[in-house]
Amino acid sequence: AVPVIAIDGPSASGKGTIAQRVADALGFHYLDSGALYRLTALAASRQGIHWDDEHGVAAVAHALDVRFAGEHIYLAGDDVSHMIRSETIGVGASQVAALPLVRAALLERQRAFAQAPGLVADGRDMGSVVFPQAPLKVFLTATAEVRAERRYKQLIGRGENADLAAITADLEARDARDRARSVAPLRQLPDAHLLETSALGIEAAVGQVLQWWHA
Ligand code: CDP
Repeated sequence: AVPVIAIDGPSASGKGTIAQRVADALGFHYLDSGALYRLTALAASRQGIHWDDEHGVAAVAHALDVRFAGEHIYLAGDDVSHMIRSETIGVGASQVAALPLVRAALLERQRAFAQAPGLVADGRDMGSVVFPQAPLKVFLTATAEVRAERRYKQLIGRGENADLAAITADLEARDARDRARSVAPLRQLPDAHLLETSALGIEAAVGQVLQWWHA
């Protein structure tokens, strides 16, 4: 089987950056599973399908015409790399991600990323549902304050308006929804290594994951 490193954790814990760098270091493929939920939310809204219409959104997820090309993500040929990172789409992603049929519709698409020589996958249920056989599972987290701070800097860096108090509230609401939902709730698995990054730089976090991988 193709080796998979599953990296799960809450919003803005640094999963994306760290997973991407671990993948680069090992020459592995990278799956940003959150992007698929974000793309589904965007595609649904473009087609006038409400985020709480489970069958409608699942059909959108199943038919998703998406292409990942390095930093760029295309939806039906359109470069939506920036658009899917907005807070509005983040909220939509978190809503559609709570729908069981939507998660089922994206399952095989995610598994198809596991190609030689290996895959680093980040999300909420990489280790629990999508790649339960992954030889290395990491639960990446940081305090809510640190995560809100990181998201704030990301948004400001992209020239978006950002309000720290609103971001903190949104982050906590989203985490609560991810933890409370009935399908694939966010949780730390007993076989996952805990990586607390509040006081850890990116290089150190990447180094820790690589050390576990080579151990
Ligand atoms: O940037 P952030 O970490 O907040 O979000 P993301 O990783 O891009 O994922 C967006 C949303 O999709 C999250 O808030 C989750 O609710 C959902 N998600 C999920 O349910 N399962 C995954 N494997 C990945 C994301």
